[in-house]
Amino acid sequence: MTEFDEYERRAWQGRAATYERSFALMCAYPAPALLDAAGVGAGDKVLDVGTGPGTVAALACARGAAVTAVDPEESMLDAARRNAPAADVRHGVLPRLDLEDEAFDVVTANFVLNHVGDPVAALGELRRVTRVGGRIAFTVWPYPLPMLQRLWGDVTEALALPTPQPPLPRVAAEVNFSRTPDGLRGLLERAGLVELSCQEVVWTHHADPEDWWAAPASGMGSLGKVLATLPPAGVAEARGHYERLTAGHRTADGRLALPTGCLIAVGVVPPR
Ligand SMILES: C[S@@+](CC[C@H](N)C(=O)[O-])C[C@H]1O[C@@H](n2cnc3c(N)ncnc32)[C@H](O)[C@@H]1O
Repeated sequence: MTEFDEYERRAWQGRAATYERSFALMCAYPAPALLDAAGVGAGDKVLDVGTGPGTVAALACARGAAVTAVDPEESMLDAARRNAPAADVRHGVLPRLDLEDEAFDVVTANFVLNHVGDPVAALGELRRVTRVGGRIAFTVWPYPLPMLQRLWGDVTEALALPTPQPPLPRVAAEVNFSRTPDGLRGLLERAGLVELSCQEVVWTHHADPEDWWAAPASGMGSLGKVLATLPPAGVAEARGHYERLTAGHRTADGRLALPTGCLIAVGVVPPR
């Protein structure tokens, strides 16, 4: 396990309820398109890796697929069992899954490969558990970041903290990938996949401002790490910047309307 993976384990620990209230609603938007891109239909054996609260797993079950869903975080597994009761929900951590070779027709990873310490090894493992001719489909946030994904960094920058924040653990350059269509294709190629495709999905995410703030306020994401180090006055200042930076992105009833988007990549396992 890399330092990045250890950081990720701590970052998600006990956070399912806050995630379901905030980021999960955003991550749910491209889930139907992800399943369409992977061609998920009735009777398919599907693995949803990094299932979180089981959003993709539940949708795949509704399509009549036989779904296995894995995640390292116990609070997420509890949520997934509640949201996707027809799925076989298990503990599982990339890059090593306790699953048989070529067991699945389709593997999905909705915003997961951006949370693993070795994306190349992780995708190799997803290939191992996918049958010949099977599909692996995943999403990541693109670079340059959309407005919504820039927001927490913009709030941090506006705080003008007197001392620099300690750097967060990073993925080693030799196993990392660019969050662009070419970068995603390159990652799929390194795993030996073929028939590669990559599409961009853009949308406006609508959210209750309190629900959206709940994520960093409870320590989630990059801003959450910063807020955890600040006195109440600093947190109040950050909240003020959040209000100011989102003022132009509100609907008449005060809800947030934040532009965002993601990339969906798909590859097929070639014959041996
Ligand atoms: C951004 S959430 C996405 C959750 C879910 N796929 C969704 O659509 O809402 C990232 C998820 O990846 C999981 N995760 C992080 N590192 C992982 C790893 N090494 N292997 C498998 N899952 C991992 C986290 O526990 C978390 O549930």
